[in-house]
Amino acid sequence: MKFFKILLLFITLQVSAQQGGMWIPSLLEGMNEHEMTDLGSKLTAQDIYDVNNSSLKDAIGHFNGGCTSEVISPKGLILTNHHCGFSQIQSHSSLENDYLKDGFWAMKLEEELPNPGLFIEFIVRIEDVTAQVLNGVTEDMTEKEKQSTISKNSNAFEAQVEKEAWQDTKIKSFYKGNQYFLFVTERFNDIRLVGAPPSSIGKFGSDTDNWVFPRHTGDFSMFRIYADKDNRPAEYSTENVPYKPKHFLPISLDGVEEGDFTMVFGFPGTTDEYLPAVAIEHITKEYNPSNIAIREAALKVIDANMKTSDEVRIKYASKQARIANAWKKWQGENLGIEKSNAIEKRHEFEATFQKAIKEKGLEDKYGNILPEFDVLYENFGDVNIKRRSFIEVFLVTNELMEMTFRTYQFEQAIINNPDVFEKAKASIEGTLTGVHKDYDVNVDRGVFENVMPFYTKNVDVSIYDKTAFTHIDSALKLFEGSQEEVIKNLNNDAAYAYAKPMIEDFYNNINPEFQAKNEPITALQTVYMTALMEALPNARYFPDANSTLRVTYGQVRGYSPRDAVYYSPVSYLDGVIEKYVPGDYEFDVPQKLIDLYEAKDYGQYADANGKVPVCFLGTNHTTGGNSGSPAIDAHGNLVGLNFDRVWEGTMSDMYYDPEICRNIMVDLRYVLFIVDKYAGAKHLIDEMKLVHPKK
Ligand code: ARG
Ligand code: GLU
Repeated sequence: MKFFKILLLFITLQVSAQQGGMWIPSLLEGMNEHEMTDLGSKLTAQDIYDVNNSSLKDAIGHFNGGCTSEVISPKGLILTNHHCGFSQIQSHSSLENDYLKDGFWAMKLEEELPNPGLFIEFIVRIEDVTAQVLNGVTEDMTEKEKQSTISKNSNAFEAQVEKEAWQDTKIKSFYKGNQYFLFVTERFNDIRLVGAPPSSIGKFGSDTDNWVFPRHTGDFSMFRIYADKDNRPAEYSTENVPYKPKHFLPISLDGVEEGDFTMVFGFPGTTDEYLPAVAIEHITKEYNPSNIAIREAALKVIDANMKTSDEVRIKYASKQARIANAWKKWQGENLGIEKSNAIEKRHEFEATFQKAIKEKGLEDKYGNILPEFDVLYENFGDVNIKRRSFIEVFLVTNELMEMTFRTYQFEQAIINNPDVFEKAKASIEGTLTGVHKDYDVNVDRGVFENVMPFYTKNVDVSIYDKTAFTHIDSALKLFEGSQEEVIKNLNNDAAYAYAKPMIEDFYNNINPEFQAKNEPITALQTVYMTALMEALPNARYFPDANSTLRVTYGQVRGYSPRDAVYYSPVSYLDGVIEKYVPGDYEFDVPQKLIDLYEAKDYGQYADANGKVPVCFLGTNHTTGGNSGSPAIDAHGNLVGLNFDRVWEGTMSDMYYDPEICRNIMVDLRYVLFIVDKYAGAKHLIDEMKLVHPKK
């Protein structure tokens, strides 16, 4: 009995150890290091980030500015998500070589496929430069004066930073402009595709399972970094050789169980954890619903056409995934905010804040912040939605409108400066060619009919029969001749003439009004952050995500999505077979995988229970951008590949609740099982370092 009580106490303590937050890797010593140790980590702050010696951070690369990737072999082999490499896989695909459908595996270096434009960036070092950046900034300055001093200081500082010729620098704001950090970075541009499973593994469950647990997706793909003969970043060349990394992650074959420590190391994009209640209300009750409706209207057409034509499926795969992903996420976010009572809880928190500033005599300084937010948001709501609707229609969903938008930018550029005509022309021709590579006029016309009514009463589908933009040859003809002729051609085009007044309205009215109303909100958010830290100094503050390298940590944990239901944290290959629907576009399973399952041909990749683990859950606080991030065990080995969050916890970008917010990772043993047993790419396994930390 006594033993059980102690055990129970121990378990509760384990669970209640502080979690949540995305922390700056160079500042882990102290609080974070202690919390991580409490959660089971054996790593020191220096194991994770060190300037003078190689450390975990040297294996973590920002993948194309949007995802995360990690080095997993001494020959620059890179692991990231299938959905992160998706547009590269798509761009190498055709009806004859359908790598989206069938997967792709390079069996030797010469077969690895180059990807122009794709890059991976590493962090060399991080420095606090707050004093230098804020030098000369005073409270009586206007927002404009402040920002211009900050950018002058930043530029001056960056200009004199010590670095190698091939390295870059950037300065980023943290805690809403209360702190600034410098990043010295190294960027590699020769990144080749090594392997990808078929979508029936890499995107298994597609939209139905997206943002949902239990999950059974093998969301991974592999690339390789190539460098010049001195191991330095270089543009693509056949002379380049596989990159020799400063550090690569060993891979644990022992897996995880509930309660194990994990940390996720990557580049989370954006969060907004310090919003006032009024902002959360605006986002979930007005802003999200408006954007969801527009995307839903577009998806109706795209989805239907992708199901009936393989050509459309390949063309629209990437675009559909992008539109559908946020469309579904916003719905989960709204539900989670409502279910967790986040707005009410934020109001309660605000009452605590008001009380604290009163007690500390800070009322004069900070007493007005929250009432001021109410007024500002009241004014901001309409224009925020109007602006975003324009973006959703003209830049996210409808491609004809996107082409007119880019053309408008071209026209403005040459009117402002006729000298740029040839250069601007080459650029717009490139843009239009890019759009047309994956364009289907019937799909786009249907999208137009469905989304345009969300933006204007003037919906004129007949422009599709008259415009030159819907075919690449006629579109490019518009740009032939002298500058005057080109401008005349464009303005005579039916689609351009239709869209131009709306684009002008966006540039001349909507966007300026948005900027004017958003600027005081941003400025007040800076003051609010300062006020929070002053009024409630003992709370745990982490900076919002801003696409810089962060560490988040927690444990492997299941959760209870609703009454009487508990999700255990690990899913297995058995679940893939349970979900199997032959021929289904979301839940089909390749025959070879079924054969391996039936023969129990699992090699060294099964769990102690004899099953192959597929995905697992943790309490790591992640967001978009953490896709492809490594989940690292207590000893610094790779155990998982982050790719998603659970439906009930999708609201963690605004409100993190350790009870139900979970990140979803692919178990590395599933990745290795697919590479080895399914794809027969044993040579890749041989490059890696497989370890047994638990044996
Ligand atoms: N929800 C994950 C993320 O935000 C995965 C998206 C890719 N998967 C998909 N079915 N579209 O990126
Ligand atoms: N799938 C997301 C991404 O692309 C990561 C999951 C999330 O948003 O938590 O970065």
